[in-house]
Amino acid sequence: MTKQHCEGSFHLVGGEFPLAGAASSELKTILTGLGISAEMVRRAAIATFEAEMNVIIHAAAGVIHYSVTPEKIQITVSDMGPGIPDIELAMTEGYSTAPDWVREMGWGAGMGLPNIKKNSDQLRVESVVGEGTTIEIVINMKGGDADEGE
Ligand SMILES: Nc1ncnc2c1ncn2[C@@H]1O[C@H](COP(=O)(O)OP(=O)(O)O)[C@@H](O)[C@H]1O
Ligand SMILES: [Mg+2]
Repeated sequence: MTKQHCEGSFHLVGGEFPLAGAASSELKTILTGLGISAEMVRRAAIATFEAEMNVIIHAAAGVIHYSVTPEKIQITVSDMGPGIPDIELAMTEGYSTAPDWVREMGWGAGMGLPNIKKNSDQLRVESVVGEGTTIEIVINMKGGDADEGE
């Protein structure tokens, strides 16, 4: 597949539920177009979707930056927002501070961060309370030349 390095970014706005999933869906199309295997595209899309939702649900604004090399897909999502006071607690399945009105829309099940972890090879979460959060997701390319893949 890509001999060249491919990268780009998407802007996110907190509370923009009508646009929820638009960025991760576009990234999925881009990754598929690069000839990356369906399994890796699926993992990247799930992890990016959850990170995108976290910005929309919990933060004021954010940016998704993606970078694709023959070795890995790297997705960094950084936001301006409340930050996460206890990252270990936030990573717990079912833990959520989402307000009731968000839950009534079907979001805020507390499975976002655990799902990101499950679908990435490396996950780094950095957060400063009152400033914002940056998460870095890495998915390693495997299975040889993706041109031969699905
Ligand atoms: N970008 C973020 N900014 C602030 N808090 C966050 C962010 N992402 C996650 N959190 C905190 O971690 C909790 C768990 O996140 P997650 O597992 O995605 O569940 P959910 O989004 O359904 O609440 C959130 O409820 C919130 O308290
Ligand atoms: Mg979430």
